[in-house]
Amino acid sequence: MRFEPIERLEEVASTNDYLLELARQGAATGTTVVAQRQTRGKGRLGRAWHSPEGGLWVSTLLRPENPAGVTLMGALASCLTLESLGFEPKIRWPNDLTLEGRKVAGVLGETRLSGARCEFVVLGLGLNIHQTEFTNELKSLATSLAQHSSQPPQRETVLEGYLHQLSQLVNRSVEQLVEECRPRLELVGRRVTLELGEEKLEGTFQGLDPDGGLILEGGRTFYSVDRLRPA
Ligand code: BTN
Repeated sequence: MRFEPIERLEEVASTNDYLLELARQGAATGTTVVAQRQTRGKGRLGRAWHSPEGGLWVSTLLRPENPAGVTLMGALASCLTLESLGFEPKIRWPNDLTLEGRKVAGVLGETRLSGARCEFVVLGLGLNIHQTEFTNELKSLATSLAQHSSQPPQRETVLEGYLHQLSQLVNRSVEQLVEECRPRLELVGRRVTLELGEEKLEGTFQGLDPDGGLILEGGRTFYSVDRLRPA
């Protein structure tokens, strides 16, 4: 599958929102939107995603039969891209990429269902490339490629690599995606805290089940959490 056409915008509120609208109007599978900056970038759980110039803010339109593995696919595709550019990223389950423990990228998949059928998924990736400063709130949590390389890659190079990796992964089953993610996961075997709404759970992260769920010591499996962090 090819990721085209690619619409390039200087500024947009959110590439995900923009592409959700195009998708409702029947845009072709593979349509991709990339913006130099977003004024209302969205993160998971209604959080804001800081998107100044210098990062890769991109959304792609997919129409999978089963949307279950799409978020993991985005994380894996961006992980493979950074590996091929010489970085050593880890996947922080289920949708973040980290470099030395700090978040360098996040994935936001937005699925529209029609009854039980998946109509489409807009898969958004935000990847910090050239930013050198973060707000006080983000400083200890976030990083960029520029903070790990004296010559960070151009945004176009990262985009090209990411779309190539996505096109290779798009037909994989959830089990295959999980297999490829396993050796790249951060925090496996470590004590972690899972935040689920008001609830906080602590335990050892044992790995992923074949559906991509997180197994906590004792065998409890989670398919979605608000936040996963080292305990
Ligand atoms: C997260 O870690 O919470 C997910 C962040 C996803 C950010 C990307 S940037 C491109 C796309 N457009 C958005 O508004 N959000 C995603």
